[in-house]
Amino acid sequence: MKNLLAVLSIIVFVNIISAQTNTATYREQYRPQFHFSPQVNWTNDPNGLVYYKGKYHIFYQYNPYENKWGHMSWGHATSNDLVHWQHLPVALKEDKGIMIFSGSCVADVNNTTGFAKPGGPTPMVAMYTGHTETNQSQQIAYSFNGGNTWKKYWHNPVLDLQKKDFRDPKVFWYAPKKYWVMAVVLPNEHKVQFYQSKNMLSWVLLSEFGPAGDISGVWECPDLLQVPIANAGGRKKWVLTMSISTAMQYFVGEFDGVKFSNESLPNKIYRPDFGPDYYAGISYNQLPTGAKPVMIGWANNWQYANDIPTSPWKSAMSLPRELTLKKENNEWLLFQQPAANIDKLKGDTLVDESVLVNAVKMYDTKSTQLEVLVEAQPAANGTCGVQLAAGNGHYAEIGYDAVAQKLYVDRSHTANQGFNKNFAKLSRYEAPLALKKGLLKLHIFFDNSIIEVFANDGEAVMTMQIFPDKTDNGIALFSNGGTSTFSNVKIWNMKSAWN
Ligand code: FRU
Repeated sequence: MKNLLAVLSIIVFVNIISAQTNTATYREQYRPQFHFSPQVNWTNDPNGLVYYKGKYHIFYQYNPYENKWGHMSWGHATSNDLVHWQHLPVALKEDKGIMIFSGSCVADVNNTTGFAKPGGPTPMVAMYTGHTETNQSQQIAYSFNGGNTWKKYWHNPVLDLQKKDFRDPKVFWYAPKKYWVMAVVLPNEHKVQFYQSKNMLSWVLLSEFGPAGDISGVWECPDLLQVPIANAGGRKKWVLTMSISTAMQYFVGEFDGVKFSNESLPNKIYRPDFGPDYYAGISYNQLPTGAKPVMIGWANNWQYANDIPTSPWKSAMSLPRELTLKKENNEWLLFQQPAANIDKLKGDTLVDESVLVNAVKMYDTKSTQLEVLVEAQPAANGTCGVQLAAGNGHYAEIGYDAVAQKLYVDRSHTANQGFNKNFAKLSRYEAPLALKKGLLKLHIFFDNSIIEVFANDGEAVMTMQIFPDKTDNGIALFSNGGTSTFSNVKIWNMKSAWN
């Protein structure tokens, strides 16, 4: 009897422990409070971003069983404002040995697929890559209840080149030709292919783009979207983006319904994000007329993603970013700003001042959940910027090198880098950036383990993960090699979106 009791109490204890480790509180160490992350388990790419009936849907690469990559399925959540998210049941599950890889989603409002009965509800259609060890093909599933439950199409696949690598379809409606266009990649050939279809069930090849720009890794997750030019009365250009394990690049040009013509400089690589942790970004389909395009990326890096020290979830999404274009010195540049609703979470003002800094100015106030705005006139021959997660000799640096004219993020002095040797190696990233009238403008969001920097109104953006000790919560300004003038330094606490 005694033995039985002992065994029973061990079982109860083990269950409590495992329940604890599998239950999300959104208060765990490192848990982002205003970036999207699943309650439990692994995620990578955002998938199927679509706005439908007043809701922003996010689907995402998801392992329903474990806190590491595997059994790829589509998780699902919705939001009214791109800030607060409601988790929903897993939308598309791995089935019959076919994993559900990345893809996109549309509301088929004209019932081009014929999935709906006359007068019936609008089908939401997900187009994804069906993945097996030997084949990747494009497949579809549909939902009549706004994405809550799904049926896989009985004649899948809808596009199969009999290839091992052929993936990540991004589908959108091309109104001038009244057909759907799909951008999809041949990863090892560094090619994006464009297909068209009247019904999403059979597809015809239109053209190919690539190899071009960065071909240092496989191409994944393409997107082709229209982006407005700033102050141009609504005029737009087409932007082609893709991921190259482990960064992203973009091209600006025109798309005539058949072919993408690049107008970006051919010998230059253009990055939507220069940091280590931004990948697989895609944009929302079917946003309300007049809304700026919004892109979300995965805030992680395949070089170490599986090992980051977070539990019971692994990985988060970037902030949703609004996109515009500007032509500067005859070059098209993509500008990004955090989607405006993030302001809803702005909390107490911690700092509001202008100040000269030589060496380091540490603030009394402590926090790892912040929005920071800074304008700086950097010392001519030095570096200056902001240190976050500071304490015990640790800090993450967001700085500007005035001599090299580069913005940088540096996590080499942060704690807890030992989980994967690549993380420690990939510690400093740079972005070329000229001052604007002698000024550097930094807009930084720090969310416990994610730092996202929008510099000079979003001309250069950098995303970086860090895993600070609990006591590494200091905030400082720094200037090395001379005095820098910081004006309009504003720091706010950020509230949680998960309350
Ligand atoms: C990009 C990617 C995609 C693929 C998915 C699998 O991060 O490799 O190409 O569809 O992840 O999870």
